[in-house]
Amino acid sequence: MDLGELAAEVGTPLFVYDEAHLRARCREARAAWGDGVAYATKAFLCRAMAALVHEEGLCLDVSTGGELHVALAAGVPGERLVLHGSNKSDAELIAALGAGVGRIVVDSFDELDRLGRLVPVVAARPPAVLLRVTPGVEAHTHEYVRTGQDDSKFGFGLASGVADEAVARTRLLEESGVLRLVGVHAHIGSQIFLLESFDAEVEALADWFLPLGLAELCLGGGLGVAYVEGEEAPTITEWSEEVRAACTRAAIPPTVKITAEPGRAIAAAAALTLYTVGTIKRLPGIRTYLSVDGGMSDNPRPVLYGSGYEAFLPRAVMAARPWPVTIVGKHCESGDVLVSDAFLPADTRVGDVVATPVTGAYGHSMASNYNKVPRPPVVFVAGGRHRVVVRRESLDDLLRLDA
Ligand code: LLP
Repeated sequence: MDLGELAAEVGTPLFVYDEAHLRARCREARAAWGDGVAYATKAFLCRAMAALVHEEGLCLDVSTGGELHVALAAGVPGERLVLHGSNKSDAELIAALGAGVGRIVVDSFDELDRLGRLVPVVAARPPAVLLRVTPGVEAHTHEYVRTGQDDSKFGFGLASGVADEAVARTRLLEESGVLRLVGVHAHIGSQIFLLESFDAEVEALADWFLPLGLAELCLGGGLGVAYVEGEEAPTITEWSEEVRAACTRAAIPPTVKITAEPGRAIAAAAALTLYTVGTIKRLPGIRTYLSVDGGMSDNPRPVLYGSGYEAFLPRAVMAARPWPVTIVGKHCESGDVLVSDAFLPADTRVGDVVATPVTGAYGHSMASNYNKVPRPPVVFVAGGRHRVVVRRESLDDLLRLDA
């Protein structure tokens, strides 16, 4: 696919996904983890993505009523959905129960109370639930995306004994026919490179999990991906092998279904973002700012987490890239940086299309309309052809919600 032609036809900024790559990652996840593995839709979701993931045999993890709505609108059957969320509303639970979601991951006592009240009224049958616990594991990753430690808004703490109380309260609800307790869930964080973090998760959970005699242990998502040169991440297959070995060491019987819910590892490397260079400012003795037509509104990760990206020119993929520049967006903030230390060909000029790879996860899904910048479209490319799966927002879309 000629990305320059694609940019000319669809415009920039533009998210371009390689459909074959998405499908390959889904198949790998399905083979590695088996039935029950779920794609975490927060990483990237639109109807086309939901349909693709479902076609490839994965369940979908939805963490809000919005993600639930999009997945259902894509035709994914309720039983293939896993409902997450640390503060599920009545409306979200009613929608999920009405759709017959396959599993609900319960996160709080308030949620148990809500289920006790709502299930008898709106559900056709008692839903299968997993209890989310915080195992007290500090994953090696950015503190904003670390979730397994004791001090967390997520789940029931193991160390404090709250998780035991949650099991007891859930069993009572089970006895009165409100729900079925099928498993335990934990998620220690995101963008994790060290598989030992997942070993630690299994070790922290095993002794507590085993006597419960439950059928499923979901270890969450979190597998990291390489964004910049020099980084290396384990594959989905290596991740599952490591976790399975840890489960065996911890004497978790093979009859227990071990599941996971990768988001980033499925979507991130499948996409790149195309921008057009609009302004180049050379600050003598300081640096060169290369401004593009997007920014923190389509990729807030550098601003939020200090995340790094690479950049290249699709018109000169193999060219040497000796020129250090800082790629910035068009927003009214100095922090609006996309790539702080990019290297580009020396002849890069205004009007060039620049690509930043590995933007398929938490880019489009975290995009905003800051400065009233319309959000970019998304195209899926397969077999040398592209299709627009999310259209570009128009200026009128920016007025759509004004009362
Ligand atoms: N399961 C649960 C319960 C989660 O909270 C998450 C991500 C996942 C699965 C998927 O994790 P993944 O495999 O994608 O690491 N915006 C941040 C990432 C936030 C992740 C939130 N939860 C970023 O851009 O790095």
